[in-house]
Amino acid sequence: MIVAIDGPAGVGKSTIAKFIADELGLYYINSGSFYRAVTFAHQLKGGNCLDQDAVLKTAKSLDLGIINSKICIDGIDVEDKLHTPKVDKFVSLVSNDPRLRELINVLLRDAAVSLDVISEGRDITTVVFPNADYKFYFDASAEVRARRRINQHPEGQTYEEVLEGILVRDKNDREKPVGSLKIAKDAKIIDTSYLTIKQVCEKVVTAIKTQ
Ligand code: DC
Repeated sequence: MIVAIDGPAGVGKSTIAKFIADELGLYYINSGSFYRAVTFAHQLKGGNCLDQDAVLKTAKSLDLGIINSKICIDGIDVEDKLHTPKVDKFVSLVSNDPRLRELINVLLRDAAVSLDVISEGRDITTVVFPNADYKFYFDASAEVRARRRINQHPEGQTYEEVLEGILVRDKNDREKPVGSLKIAKDAKIIDTSYLTIKQVCEKVVTAIKTQ
């Protein structure tokens, strides 16, 4: 069984997907963490994130994978290093390269082989798992998403800076030539702007149980 969720940055996909994974006994796969791990590793070695060939080379050199639903490089959990303003700034641009996307898509599909999974990102319902059993698209205004981000990761940035970053990332994520953020025609759309985490979870679980 595959549950796929797409939506823009900060809409609550990871939080909700983790709860639903626990509730329904699914394996959680955060696809954005793969793009973040590549960006982080490339920055760590002083690389230029706008040099797609160099980023791809870095990606190919990494042993990237998920262990216990946590993203790992060479078996080491790097999850808590991936939500910095520096990674946020470049990750969407890094994810533009169709060659990198294909490499990551293979890893995502491999991770889902023989498991019941819930996966979230930008192109999970459309490209990675177009035949997913259940598809959802989460939405919320950019202002609500920026406010949530500040609450989740308050370190260093003002609300205005976070909002600006979200708007720039939204535009790039929606306009990239391959794997852009869009609504799959068979996805259930949930506007999370004024819903609690519990309310969104209930909507998703009810949709899964009644479909
Ligand atoms: O979900 P996130 O904010 O952690 O994702 C980080 C970036 O990775 C996002 O701005 C775009 C990219 N991404 C993508 O292109 N495709 C996905 N399936 C997931 C993320």
